[in-house]
Amino acid sequence: MLRSMDTMRTLLFVSVLVLLATLGAAQPQPPLNVMPMPSVVQLGAGQLAIDRSFSIAITGFRDPTVERGVQRFVAQLSQETGMLLKNKSVESANPSLLIHLEHGRQEVQRLGEDESYELTIGESGAKLNASNPLGVLHGLQTFLQLVEPGMNGFTVPAATIKDQPRFAWRGLLIDVGRHFIPVDVLKRNLDGMAAVKMNVLHLHLSDDQGFRVETKKFPKLHEMGSDGLYYTQDEIRGLISYAYDRGIRVLPEFDTPGHSGSWFVGYPELASSPGPFKVDPEGPDSVTDPTREETYKFLDKFLGEMAKLFPDAYFHIGGDEVNGQHWDKNPKIQAFIHSHGMKNNQDLQAYFNQRLQKILAKHHKVMIGWDEILHPELPKTIVIQSWRGQESLAAAAKQGYSGLLSFGYYIDLMWPASRHYAVDPMSGAAATLSPEEKPRILGGEACMWTEWVTPEILDSRVWPRTAAIAERLWSPQATQDLNSMYARLEELSWRLDWLGLTHRTGRFQMLHRMTGTYDIAALRTLADVVEPVKDYARMDSVKGPWDFRAPLNHLIDAVSPESDAARHFSAQVEAYIQSGYKDQAAESQIRALLTTWRDNDTKLHPVLNQSLLLNEVAPLSQDLSALGVAGLHALDDLDKSEPSPESWRTEQLALVERAKTPKANLLLMVVVPVQQLIESSAGQRPKS
Ligand code: ACM
Repeated sequence: MLRSMDTMRTLLFVSVLVLLATLGAAQPQPPLNVMPMPSVVQLGAGQLAIDRSFSIAITGFRDPTVERGVQRFVAQLSQETGMLLKNKSVESANPSLLIHLEHGRQEVQRLGEDESYELTIGESGAKLNASNPLGVLHGLQTFLQLVEPGMNGFTVPAATIKDQPRFAWRGLLIDVGRHFIPVDVLKRNLDGMAAVKMNVLHLHLSDDQGFRVETKKFPKLHEMGSDGLYYTQDEIRGLISYAYDRGIRVLPEFDTPGHSGSWFVGYPELASSPGPFKVDPEGPDSVTDPTREETYKFLDKFLGEMAKLFPDAYFHIGGDEVNGQHWDKNPKIQAFIHSHGMKNNQDLQAYFNQRLQKILAKHHKVMIGWDEILHPELPKTIVIQSWRGQESLAAAAKQGYSGLLSFGYYIDLMWPASRHYAVDPMSGAAATLSPEEKPRILGGEACMWTEWVTPEILDSRVWPRTAAIAERLWSPQATQDLNSMYARLEELSWRLDWLGLTHRTGRFQMLHRMTGTYDIAALRTLADVVEPVKDYARMDSVKGPWDFRAPLNHLIDAVSPESDAARHFSAQVEAYIQSGYKDQAAESQIRALLTTWRDNDTKLHPVLNQSLLLNEVAPLSQDLSALGVAGLHALDDLDKSEPSPESWRTEQLALVERAKTPKANLLLMVVVPVQQLIESSAGQRPKS
């Protein structure tokens, strides 16, 4: 959402501290390709073969969620192995996989239901035990991730796994207000969430740019407050049941009193300032008027309807970033503040929230809101979602409130997975909480705000980085090893892609569209080593009003938030330097890449030259080639054990500085390792 720069600076500063505090706590992890890493893993000897006779038996409690989960499991396993496997459980004393379930699950999934499972895999069979169907679903996902191809078919390594989540609330927020995200896209993201054992899909259903749910009581909300793109109530019910089948709760958010411009298009009387309103960037903005009784009558009816549609026990009312100007400028609202003995707008918002909380309680919902709603007047039953810093989460817990961490998990900031991974809900101020206060931290949520995200690119903004956050919320706190995390993330990433997500493959369509040609090889070379600018730099670069309706079809929209190629290149350069320039395998790979980059601009130049869309990346392509030339020169000098000429280095380091400047809102991610090569070529190194 639109945040002030000061807040952002504080966020960044604190998160660097968190990063520094958590680095160095690395723990060795078993070489098991599972993400999130289970709490306890013991590797066994040998493997279980998966062949055509693979069978599943279920004992104990019979549960429809498990039946359907098993069917999906078999479908996925069949697809992966190419074998037509029995898709029904069998009555067999010796099945390949024996599932034992103790009891059923809640009709509406509850926070804190038992999600634990035990999975024992031996050469002659596997056993999966869980008390609740949710544990079975998680255990099946673990099993699927362990399947590997071999010379004689497919296998799963022998292991004993005892697993349970560290936090009960492991969510992903998707903002469907700024850009509408169709149901099928949400469903494939639910599949991705299930694969990494996340259990809450938080839908940010309304914002200034759109109101996205059909309401029968106030149809002008979705009809006038959107561009015609909204979910029907049937679609919402279908989505909730799809999520339930995968062990995922759906949490609705209707943001108020701020971020609620779309409500006022059809119902201007709710606003604190005069309309008319419209959902386009030119329209006036406003916030809800908390002083009118009619506002609460409206909210009671509206929330009553939505409380029935969304069965979850929790209901999110937003509450963030209320622009007080509209309250300041409205004499009637000012008079209300004074006559009620309130000191300021915060008190007025607290009054509004207290009323909302009572309405929600009447409709049997627990209120949840962003950290701005924290106020001593509110009952301790509410939940605080912390986005402005970890302190507010700890402060809430100290005062008796439950809370969720989202600060540090904003995936729209385009941070690398490692940076999100370093953020722990129990670190920082939360580390000093008492044993009584600690359990009030329920978990956290990754947040996918969609100012710069359309359905076409949503998956690539969410995955695979969200899996690192899923691991932080599921696995033991000591699970910290970055090399292990990245190795498993890469494995998981292709699995998620063939499950139906498009985070890896979707960009090729976009590159073809941009070039208008079959041959995208040279553009791919460039696209693979750039990343979008970080934080809200892209928003800062917008001249004039930001128009959420603009197509997102530039190179920045097609590239991944984190470049694997650049990370690998950096690691190779690191290994090469660490080896005292002796690691020949690393050197030849570095050389090959530098050569590709050196030659790339000549190939790409004609494509960029004739494309209005791609013209803006021409300077990046030139920088990449220049870096290739410089890196190769440095390697040659290193090979000859001759210091590179100082004047040459000065020139190259100037190039490096230029190449660090973002262009077309993109950052070239291989600048620093090339700089290291250039600096190394100065010659202070041992001769071999
Ligand atoms: C927020 O990002 N304003 C919750």
